[in-house]
Amino acid sequence: FKPLQIAPSILSADFMHLADDIALMERAGAALVHVDVMDGHFVPNLTMGVPIIRQLRKATDLPLDVHLMIENPLRQLDWFLQAGCHVVTVHAETLYGAELDQAVDRIVEAGCLPALALRPRTPVEVLAPVIGRLHMVLVMSVEPGFSGQRYHEGSELKVAAVARMARAVGNHDLLIEVDGGIGPATVGLVAAAGADVMVCGSAFFDAADPARALAEVRERGDA
Ligand code: DX5
Ligand code: ZN
Repeated sequence: FKPLQIAPSILSADFMHLADDIALMERAGAALVHVDVMDGHFVPNLTMGVPIIRQLRKATDLPLDVHLMIENPLRQLDWFLQAGCHVVTVHAETLYGAELDQAVDRIVEAGCLPALALRPRTPVEVLAPVIGRLHMVLVMSVEPGFSGQRYHEGSELKVAAVARMARAVGNHDLLIEVDGGIGPATVGLVAAAGADVMVCGSAFFDAADPARALAEVRERGDA
């Protein structure tokens, strides 16, 4: 049994008061700070990068869960690896041929934890070459790019498929993270399918009482 971990996404935070929002996450019992890095190419939106991650690293002891939605991640990977990330997630769709192995190697060599993300239409089979040595798989339950979107029905089936693949290769420590539209109404479904880490953007930061919202997500996920 792995306890459910909640990773609020700071894409929904108040950037003018980011330190307050980080403190709020700490008080609420967040396990990780989810950082959405978008380049305006792999996804239509443009968000934040290395300078913000460096400052976040100094501002909190919470581990940084960095979700790279950028084309050609190998070109910029070293900067992120040196910025203080804990988990570094690259997208399967941005890595061609041997690049997938190279990305995992470089993340591990830098002392960070490697994770691979899949867009909603990307099949789980792309995980096969590396799933044995991944720390985490991120299943996108919306098209990446924006917070506040609706959970794609059926994403829980993909979570279950990843869990089966991990068992088949004996990676019993693999964590499965779900990102997009996760809140009190959807957490039960994905947790039952085997998800361990819940990204919550709007469900946390748009809640009237974010700490209460986080506790509710945890309760419904553990139920
Ligand atoms: C979307 C990002 C998500 C997003 C989640 O591309 O990867 O992390 O911030 O936001 P919600 O929880 O509102 O769907
Ligand atoms: Zn994300």
